[in-house]
Amino acid sequence: MEFNECPLLASEAVNREHEQLVELINQAEFDVLMGRQAQRPLQALKAFVQQHFAEESQTFSQHAMPHCDAHRRDHEFLLQLIEQACTSNDAEELLSILSDQLPNAIVRHIDRFDRQVVNWLKRHRRTAA
Ligand SMILES: [Fe+2]
Ligand SMILES: [Fe+2]
Repeated sequence: MEFNECPLLASEAVNREHEQLVELINQAEFDVLMGRQAQRPLQALKAFVQQHFAEESQTFSQHAMPHCDAHRRDHEFLLQLIEQACTSNDAEELLSILSDQLPNAIVRHIDRFDRQVVNWLKRHRRTAA
């Protein structure tokens, strides 16, 4: 996927993290396309996403932000998709997740949920983590 598919948010720090996320997905996808084992980039992707979500979740709690349950549930959904990729031995399934399902789900997530958080923090004059 291309980083420019991701909606840009009003926080450089958050945009940079999403750019890293796209790079990790692309590394895993590249290995699968080359017929190589993608376990290493997939584990790196999983670790990065877990960390990214944990930080976002901490931000919700710190600022007592309203309406975070749906956001957290969507994180769970994305993690399940990544977990499915980590445990798959089927190249076709992996490509479907890495080239299609995950990019779509991430673009939707950023547009709907992360945007809300960044804008809320801006309105309350706090820096987005
Ligand atoms: Fe999020
Ligand atoms: Fe995010």
